[in-house]
Amino acid sequence: MTKIVHKNYINGEWKNSHSKKTYDIYNPANTREKIGSAQYSSDADVNEAIIAADKAAKIWSGTPAPQRADILFKAHRIMRNRFDELAESITLEEGKCIGDAEGEVKRSLAVIEFMAGEGRRMHGYTAPSESQGTLDYTYRKPLGAVSVITPWNFPLAIPAWKIAPALVCGNTVVFKPAFSTPITAIKLVEIFEEAGLPKGVLNIVTGSSSDIGSHFVENEIIKGVSFTGSTEVGTEINKMASKSLAKVQCEMGGKNAVIVMDDGNLEKAQESILQGAFGSSGQRCTATSRAIIHQNIFDEFVKKLVSATNKICVGAGLNRESDMSCLASKAQLNQIQEYVDIGLSEGATLLTGGKKISNKDLEDGYFFQPTIFKDVETNMRIAKEEIFGPVLTLFKCQDIEEAIAICNDSEFGLSSSIYTENIHKAFTYIEQIETGIIHVNSPTLGGEVHMPFGGIKASGIGNREQGLEAIEFFTEIVSVYISH
Ligand code: UN1
Repeated sequence: MTKIVHKNYINGEWKNSHSKKTYDIYNPANTREKIGSAQYSSDADVNEAIIAADKAAKIWSGTPAPQRADILFKAHRIMRNRFDELAESITLEEGKCIGDAEGEVKRSLAVIEFMAGEGRRMHGYTAPSESQGTLDYTYRKPLGAVSVITPWNFPLAIPAWKIAPALVCGNTVVFKPAFSTPITAIKLVEIFEEAGLPKGVLNIVTGSSSDIGSHFVENEIIKGVSFTGSTEVGTEINKMASKSLAKVQCEMGGKNAVIVMDDGNLEKAQESILQGAFGSSGQRCTATSRAIIHQNIFDEFVKKLVSATNKICVGAGLNRESDMSCLASKAQLNQIQEYVDIGLSEGATLLTGGKKISNKDLEDGYFFQPTIFKDVETNMRIAKEEIFGPVLTLFKCQDIEEAIAICNDSEFGLSSSIYTENIHKAFTYIEQIETGIIHVNSPTLGGEVHMPFGGIKASGIGNREQGLEAIEFFTEIVSVYISH
């Protein structure tokens, strides 16, 4: 990867920030390695990008949707050609294992392809009228200029699944990637530029959220905000946007649980928990942070789970032997260590892990041991708060009702899973569980790009992402009555 100073892209031009300041990005697996620099932008850059997006809105919304979709199809082809480079960029910047990064590129391709297809659908409907000689129908209009604000944990896929539907629906975009992962985000913008997007339709401004984040929301030109990140920030964005009446879509925290019943496939359940808790070092909003295990199998199941956890190979993300890589930043490392200390002080029992890994090969990276706690009470902070790292908490339940009650005892409601072979238990769980994504016999992670993605309670505000719900978010539906 070239260690270049990356620029903002505003109104079809790659530009330095008005602030004249840049900042450096380091590999989280080896903090001695600088991987590039990006613009430390100011309000002036954000305003310039918003004005450019506003100006481009008319021409882009007037471009027929199938033509807009053609650009997405071209972007899909260009992305496929840059597959390996993008996966490597994700791993270098964010730290996740290269296999996970490749999965992220595949998912980005799938979402762009799906949304491009929407260019030939984007359906409204006709309805019978109460009056003679009248046609009632609906159709979709874009919102206008929208902001896309994304986190560091999926530096390519989350931007792709927000930007692709925004563009195909005819919106113009001002994009604020996470402070620590601007390089992959910039590559995504390059791809859309090469695909032929007219100037001003997609703009990227990099920098610190605390300095410039609010400017992406407060400006009255902005008609919609799609955000992924913490519940705290999402709630603030929702408040801010309500002043200018912008539409809001926030995908926020999770405290996802896997329930393991004594009639479930225990091998699959174990695999699912390991993947959910420690895949991407637990740094995803759908990570499994709670496992609720039936009392009849608890001791044996936990023994095997801990032994499998101790065999996880932790190493640099670019090394294909690694099962788990590093945390994404120093802030993440400190936060995870703090939660382990909180768990210990609350009286939970640490079964394995709990520390930064400081052997010779890994000491310059933010590597943390996969960690499991038992004797966790539902009122403990480690049971309630989103840790966002490789920390799993274990609970014992006596039946399906108690398992569901523990799972629902959370402010969050993103994803959950049950392992059972009993259809009655599976459907009881589906009916009663309070999460937006429900899995039976599959991990809490992920989702398919043509299905809605998002949560209830403190996990989500507004329309779901992806699937047709994304089209719902990025359009206004208008009702037309034509009397002839
Ligand atoms: C996934 O589970 O693969 O920030 C996707 C996050 C979510 C996306 C998770 N918005 O982790």
